[in-house]
Amino acid sequence: PVLYVLNGPNLNLLGVREPHIYGRETLADVQALCEAAAEGATIVFRQTNREGELIDWVQETRTAAHALILNPAGYGHTSIALLDALKALTIPVIECHLSNPAAREEFRHKTFVSLAATGVVSGFGAHSYELAIKAALRLVRERSS
Ligand code: DQA
Repeated sequence: PVLYVLNGPNLNLLGVREPHIYGRETLADVQALCEAAAEGATIVFRQTNREGELIDWVQETRTAAHALILNPAGYGHTSIALLDALKALTIPVIECHLSNPAAREEFRHKTFVSLAATGVVSGFGAHSYELAIKAALRLVRERSS
């Protein structure tokens, strides 16, 4: 299977950006963790600061991926266009956050992405991604059996 792991704005600064909240691991470390958790699946791992590019990649998963793991970062809280792109998918979508947005500022309590997500993993730092990969692999296997 092919799993897309897409990362939204400011996640390129992981490791130096508010490390007390997001941890000291870099995005390259997170990618390595995902690849180690892949159990033979192909991981397509990308980050962008641009909303339109993120939407292009979400659309790309319609023909290229068996599941999508998405950390929408700030766009999760703001982008109806991103939600609309997710609604066009039939593959499982796992929303993934390093921090636990529900325990933070009020404006982070809701993400539009959750409306289209199969499930959400948040609050475990880089390990949120590992858990999301495990969940995605299970869903993909269930679908193909
Ligand atoms: C985040 C949480 C969001 O609220 C925030 O805007 C981010 C990162 C996380 O991974 O914890 O940029 O998605």
